[in-house]
Amino acid sequence: MAFPIHRPRRLRRGETLRAMVRETRLAPADFIYPLFVCEGRGVRREIPSMPGCHHLSIDTLVEEVKAARDDGVTGVILFGIPGSKDALGSGAYAEDGIVQRALAELKEKVSGVILAADVCLCEYTDHGHCGVVEDGDVANDRTLPLLARASVSLAKAGADLIAPSDMMDGRIGAIRKALDEAGFQETAIMSYAAKFASAFYGPFRDAAGSAPRFGDRRSYQMDPANAREAMREIALDVEEGADIIMVKPALAYLDLVREARSRFDLPIAAYNVSGEYSMLVAAAERGWIDRERAILESLTSIKRAGADLILTYFAREASRLLARSPRS
Ligand code: PBG
Repeated sequence: MAFPIHRPRRLRRGETLRAMVRETRLAPADFIYPLFVCEGRGVRREIPSMPGCHHLSIDTLVEEVKAARDDGVTGVILFGIPGSKDALGSGAYAEDGIVQRALAELKEKVSGVILAADVCLCEYTDHGHCGVVEDGDVANDRTLPLLARASVSLAKAGADLIAPSDMMDGRIGAIRKALDEAGFQETAIMSYAAKFASAFYGPFRDAAGSAPRFGDRRSYQMDPANAREAMREIALDVEEGADIIMVKPALAYLDLVREARSRFDLPIAAYNVSGEYSMLVAAAERGWIDRERAILESLTSIKRAGADLILTYFAREASRLLARSPRS
């Protein structure tokens, strides 16, 4: 006998009332903006598979981060496009590596933005895998010291958040220990804890030139079918000392964002990855969906699922959209 007593439409009468009863609100402070930094000066080269995203040299990166801050974005995460690659990914832990130099410059020139650094070898190895390759396999334990070394060099350069995305076992513990021993007890770790072997990373690998030369990442990234295992991965990273845990990708894995939210008390991040970005951009370019509405709707759904932080290439645009409609 709910109807006619109950009429949910009563609370949908006009935008002011809808805004009053809205359950989930996005804010620019929710967003972490991924950026790609490359060698050179004055470089701002659009990434073909990610229209609207660019390879930026350090000087243009500084301008982009300032502009993002002015749009209200509070965090950025840096990915490096090194000048050269080798078998051990030495560019990832070089004291004068591209991201290390970028961090130092940002630290000096931009305030009020949290600087996160992605930690992985795949952008720096000539074979494109996320770890050291031995006998055709990615060797877990040999990779850990390199990730630890990369993390310390990034913390030293000025990273506020170290974000390992490699999916080696035991890396959070190894990185925590190395950071502490080097005096970086206060540097936090945002772990890509449940990261899946996903087709939605396609445009990023193009952007970072990090596609594996042989095989794929399924021996270290997770099987998209596994939810219980994702919770186990997260629990292990929490035990090893992660400060923020991440589910990646976001949109095809919202059930896991929700499940992680109900099981863990740490802040949860979700990565709205390159494929999710580029699909939306491409459909909007064809006039098949409304770009602005689709952006806000997908980001809202990620937050509604339980994410505190959203890594998204839409960070600046969404922040500007929110400023235009403060009631959203
Ligand atoms: C590095 C890394 C990847 C992404 C973030 N860090 C690529 C991968 O694992 O192949 C993907 C980001 C995106 O698709 O937006 N390991």
